[in-house]
Amino acid sequence: MQVAVTRRIDDDALAILASIGQLRYWDNDLPPDRDELLKLLDGVDGALMLLTDRVDAGLLDRCPSLRVVSNLAVGFDNIDVAACTARRVAACTTPNVLTQTTAEFTIALLMAVARQVVPAARAARDGDWKTWYPFRFLGRDLAGATLGIVGLGRIGASVAQMATGLGMRVVYSSGRTDERYQRLDIDELLETADIVSLHVPATPTTHHLIEAHALALMKSDAILINTSRGTVIDADALVAALEEGRLFGVGLDVTDPEPLPSDHPLYSFDRVTIVPHIASATMTTRMRMSSLAAQNVVAVLTGVEPPHCLNPEVLRNV
Ligand code: DGY
Repeated sequence: MQVAVTRRIDDDALAILASIGQLRYWDNDLPPDRDELLKLLDGVDGALMLLTDRVDAGLLDRCPSLRVVSNLAVGFDNIDVAACTARRVAACTTPNVLTQTTAEFTIALLMAVARQVVPAARAARDGDWKTWYPFRFLGRDLAGATLGIVGLGRIGASVAQMATGLGMRVVYSSGRTDERYQRLDIDELLETADIVSLHVPATPTTHHLIEAHALALMKSDAILINTSRGTVIDADALVAALEEGRLFGVGLDVTDPEPLPSDHPLYSFDRVTIVPHIASATMTTRMRMSSLAAQNVVAVLTGVEPPHCLNPEVLRNV
């Protein structure tokens, strides 16, 4: 049995994979390009992959020995699941283990934007701290504010619970039903919320969900937080809204594209905080994610039901 790993990961996950066969390891912090990826996957039975690896019909046809692709992520917009199913390749993910960590980071980003932590820290570091300023770096209080959650899934629900603990009123627009919070349609949510936090997957339906019209509906001093996927926001429309002076602040853990080029106009606004897709990045959580991704591979290749498979119908004849 041969298994590929498309990025440098921790030894525990590698050991899980090595227990069933030979490893072909991309021992690098940067991803393989398409040709390197195809070469790496050539002839392997399974692969532990990252959200930066595009798994489409073209790749699957070039790698007919593949029986499982296991994403080191809960999101799977990099994987064409239908193409996997058509070729009887199991597609697996790592939900649940990152829910709390991602929700905690959403609150951290929200607080950083609401309290201008990044511009204030930059001013202190740059020698621009001359006195105690009564009216500089003024933020927004969270207690009493209305948080609009777009997508009350696992992570959205965890954010809602934390926000409630901070004294926020929570409304939501899609996802599971939860009687504790008020459900609104998306336009009502955008008009009502002081803070809008996005928790939907990247799908054709959510592509540019937050575009010019949506941004115009938001309160002009609202805060927008995105820890889901960059494509949910139309970045050009966001830049235009910011140039018009709209929005108190924006926190982006995800962007379109990723990485966001360093000359992108979004970096020019002090009230925009951008971080490089780190919401699930704690040691414990990344270790759990990588173990789970490895377990998915091992389970499929040894004929056991994997912990998290998106297309379990293919498993019957793997
Ligand atoms: C995911 O898992 O989809 C995140 O974006 C990375 O944790």
